[in-house]
Amino acid sequence: MAQTRHIIGAKTGLKSVLSRVNLVAPKNIPVLLHGETGSGKEVIAQAVHERSNRSTQKFVRVNCGAIAPELIDSELFGHEKGAFTGARTTHRGWFEQADKGTLFLDEIAELPLSAQVRLLRVLEGSAFARVGGEQSIQTDVRIIAATHRDLPSLIKTHRFREDLYYRLSGFPIIIPPLRERTGDIAALSEYFIARAAQRFGIKPMSLSQADIRMLQSYPWPGNIREFASVINRALLLSEATGNLQIAQALGSFNRAAANNTPSAEQPPSDSTQDDSLDAIIRAHIEKIISECHGRIEGPFGAAQRLRLNPSTLRSKMRKWQK
Ligand SMILES: Nc1ncnc2c1ncn2[C@@H]1O[C@H](COP(=O)(O)OP(=O)(O)OP(=O)(O)O)[C@@H](O)[C@H]1O
Ligand SMILES: [Mg+2]
Repeated sequence: MAQTRHIIGAKTGLKSVLSRVNLVAPKNIPVLLHGETGSGKEVIAQAVHERSNRSTQKFVRVNCGAIAPELIDSELFGHEKGAFTGARTTHRGWFEQADKGTLFLDEIAELPLSAQVRLLRVLEGSAFARVGGEQSIQTDVRIIAATHRDLPSLIKTHRFREDLYYRLSGFPIIIPPLRERTGDIAALSEYFIARAAQRFGIKPMSLSQADIRMLQSYPWPGNIREFASVINRALLLSEATGNLQIAQALGSFNRAAANNTPSAEQPPSDSTQDDSLDAIIRAHIEKIISECHGRIEGPFGAAQRLRLNPSTLRSKMRKWQK
């Protein structure tokens, strides 16, 4: 589980996020967290719990995307023994387990519509019964929901209920992606280098200004999680060379070099494949765009690696989409 003791950037890039956390934590209202993958939604959810008057009670995290739709009801509300085949014992659902504490509904957008209706009813104060049970149960649970998806657009396509959205989004907190808080990079590096050094038993090393600039210009599609793994890799690679290997750990420069080197192990071409120059150019461009995580412009963008003007690259992409 994520550790909230170390919220790096709490006074810089996450300052406004933390001031919202502090405002809402003691109030018993639902919180909706929005942020890209790896941006720290769980870290912030725990911070809300720990700064609330429920901090000594349970924090129950549920990944709504990881449960088979047919089991959602029994997971949310529990089931009685014998309620369905395989229900060998009575099971207390998340609402009961988190009673008096906080229920963190992660990946809330993945909740099936039928479960959204039942969740809304409980949030509106209704009691519930375990699957296969008759006894009415009422719990006192503070809900924190999180998603990386754009809920308003899911509402438009009828994949998320508007009424549930309004119920959950009374106090939204948007966690900015790492590329928008580059001021935190130096502190994050220091923290993750020290952590990796301890974990791997390697001497901690410091970053050069050029390394920091490189880390600041990378787009970090996997945010802090990706950052931590790049730092781990850079430190492991440093054992052989004696200094941190940020460029190598990021991989881009190596890949760029590799792409310019013809491989001796290329398989012979297959007569059914499209060998036209246009098809080969298109495949190459698509591969580079995917390696750049869809980013077109900037120092880590596909246009620079392909030595193309970004607008030329975009117009090629538009042509292929037709
Ligand atoms: N501000 C931060 N300071 C220190 N560590 C952080 C910070 N934000 C995130 N992390 C670490 O980065 C990793 C990813 O964070 P977390 O699990 O909270 O992200 P998430 O937004 O929930 O990701 P996902 O969408 O993939 O579930 C965790 O190991 C967490 O401890
Ligand atoms: Mg998460």
